[in-house]
Amino acid sequence: MYQVLYRKWRPQVFADVIGQPQVTKTLQNELTAGRVAHAYLFTGCRGTGKTTCAKILAKAVNCLHPKDGDPCGECEICRGVQDGSIMDIVEIDAASNNGVDNIRMLREEANFTPAVAKYRVYIIDEVHMLSAGAFNALLKTLEEPPAHVIFILATTEVQKIPATILSRCQRFDFHRIAPEEIAARLRYIAGQEGASLDEEAAMLLARLADGAMRDALSLLDQCLGRSRDVTVEVVNAAAGLAGREHLFRLTDAVKEQDSAAALSVIDEMHKAGKDMARLCEEFSSHLRSLMLIKTMKDARPLIAVTNSEYEQMEKQALTVPLPVILHGLDTMQDALERMYRGVDRRTEIEMAFLKLCCPELDDSKAALLRRIGALEKRAPAAVSGLTAPVSQPEPQVQTAPVPVKPVSIPTPQATPETSSPPEEQPASAAKPTKAAASAKSVVELAENAQPLAEWPEIVQTLKQYSRTIAAAFRGTKAYVSGGYVLIDSGNEMAFSLLRESSQRDSMRRAIQQVTGKVYKLGPYRPADKQEQARDPLKLMAERAEKAGIDVVEE
Ligand SMILES: Nc1ncnc2c1ncn2[C@@H]1O[C@H](COP(=O)(O)OP(=O)(O)OP(=O)(O)O)[C@@H](O)[C@H]1O
Ligand SMILES: [Mg+2]
Ligand SMILES: [Zn+2]
Repeated sequence: MYQVLYRKWRPQVFADVIGQPQVTKTLQNELTAGRVAHAYLFTGCRGTGKTTCAKILAKAVNCLHPKDGDPCGECEICRGVQDGSIMDIVEIDAASNNGVDNIRMLREEANFTPAVAKYRVYIIDEVHMLSAGAFNALLKTLEEPPAHVIFILATTEVQKIPATILSRCQRFDFHRIAPEEIAARLRYIAGQEGASLDEEAAMLLARLADGAMRDALSLLDQCLGRSRDVTVEVVNAAAGLAGREHLFRLTDAVKEQDSAAALSVIDEMHKAGKDMARLCEEFSSHLRSLMLIKTMKDARPLIAVTNSEYEQMEKQALTVPLPVILHGLDTMQDALERMYRGVDRRTEIEMAFLKLCCPELDDSKAALLRRIGALEKRAPAAVSGLTAPVSQPEPQVQTAPVPVKPVSIPTPQATPETSSPPEEQPASAAKPTKAAASAKSVVELAENAQPLAEWPEIVQTLKQYSRTIAAAFRGTKAYVSGGYVLIDSGNEMAFSLLRESSQRDSMRRAIQQVTGKVYKLGPYRPADKQEQARDPLKLMAERAEKAGIDVVEE
C-alpha cells in the first residue's frame, strides 16, 4: 500500500528534524545530562515537527541505549514503541477527547507505574481543544506529577492554554522552516525515492509550503504523481491553484457584495473539514497579495505562488478596489482575534463575510472608507455636498452600493408601495416616494403589535436550524401584528442574515414549530425609531440621488 511521503519520512531521531535547533539541540543536551522534565509544551506553526519531536522524545527518555540524547531505534523499547506494542506511551488527540472525564481517566491511569518502560509518556496533541474542566483536571496532575509520568502537550494555539498550565511546562517554540532547509530535505527525500527534483523546483515547492514541511512533502507527492522528473514546469502544473480557488471565489463574492455566494463557499469548506481560523488566515494572505500587486511595481518576488496563480491574482487585483481589500484585511483580523478568544469559529467567519458583503451594515472605519470610496466614484459632486449636475457614473464600477440580492425585510428605503409590507420584492424597484408609503405601513404594523412571549423559545429552537441566526437574534424581542412577526433588534447585521432565503426559512420554521402558526417576517420599527434608524451614508446616497444619479441602497 502506498504511504504518503510525509508519513513515510517522519524523522525517527532528533538529528533528522530540520530547522528546529532551538528544540532538538536543547532536548538532546538535557537528555544527555539526564535532565528530564515532567511536562513539556510544544507549540508553533502546523507541520513543523511538534508531533514528530514528541514521539522522538517519548522514545528517547525510555531508550535502553540512547546516543547523544537520540533514541537508538533498535532496542526492544524503541522497536516496541515503533510497532505500537508498548502501551506506556499514550497518544491522545485532545480534539476528540476533550472532556473532563477523559482527563480524569488519564489521571487515574497515570498513578500506575509503567509496564515495561521507565516512564509512562502522555502525548496530548491539539491540547488547546481541552474544555475548561479538562484543563483543571490536567492542572491537578501537573501540580503533583507522579515520578514516572511525563506529559508532552502539543498545540498550534498557545494563546488558548491557561497560564496556570503554561507555567508548569517547559516550553519549546517551533518556527517556520527556512525555504533553503526545506528544499534540501525535499531533494534528499526525492533522491531516496529514486526520483529527481531540480534545485529550482525544490525552491519553488519550499516557497509554496510557507515554512511547513508537511505541506512541502504533500506538494512533492502531487508532483511525483505526474512525473518522476520534477521540474519547475511540473510543480507549476501540479500545484496549479493548489486548492486555493475558493480564495478567488470569496474575493469575487466580497467584491460583488454577494453574501449568498460567500456563505456557500464557507459552507463547502466547513463540510470539507477546513478549520475556519485557517481559512481566515489564508483569505487574509490572499488579500495581502492583491494589495501588494496593486500598490507595487513588481510584487512577484514577495508572493510565493506559481506563475499561473500569480497571473490570475494580477487579473483579480485589477477588479478589486483598494478600500475593499483593506476592509477585508481589517475584518479578517478582527474575526481571528475573536476566534482565538473562543467565539464559535463558523459563526464568526460568517458574520465577517456578511459585513464584507454588506458594508452598509458595518460601522467600522474601514467599511465607511470603502463606502465613501464607492460613493465618490459614482457621484463625486453629490458626496462633496454640491448639487450641480453630475455626469453619468462609470458603467462598471464594481463597488457601487447596489446590493445584488433582493431584500426580504421591509425597510423605509426598500419596499415598494403596497398595502402591507410584502416579502421578497425586487430591491431595484425602490423609489423614495414609494418607500415613504411602505415605511408608514411598517409603522402601522408596529402600532398594533403585541409582544411575542415565545420569542426566546423560538430563538432557542432556531439553533437546530442555524446557529448563526440563533446567535444573531439572541437577546432581541419580537412582536406579532397582522400575520407578521416583527423583530426588534438594533443590530442590522442580524437582519442582513435574513436576506438569505434559507435563513428566512429556518426562522419561519422555528416560529411555526413553537407557535404552530405560519408568519411573515418584518422588522419592528415604531414611528419614533424611524428617524434614528437613518444611516448618515444612506442620507448621503439620497443626496446623490436627488442630484439625478441612480444610487439606490437596497
Ligand atoms: N522539522 C521537520 N523536519 C523534518 N520533517 C518534518 C519537520 N516537521 C515536519 N516534518 C514532516 O512533516 C510531517 C508532519 O509533521 P508533524 O506531525 O510533526 O507536524 P506538527 O508540527 O505536529 O503539525 P500539526 O500542528 O499540524 O500537528 C512529519 O511526518 C514529517 O514528515
Ligand atoms: Mg501534530
Ligand atoms: Zn532504543
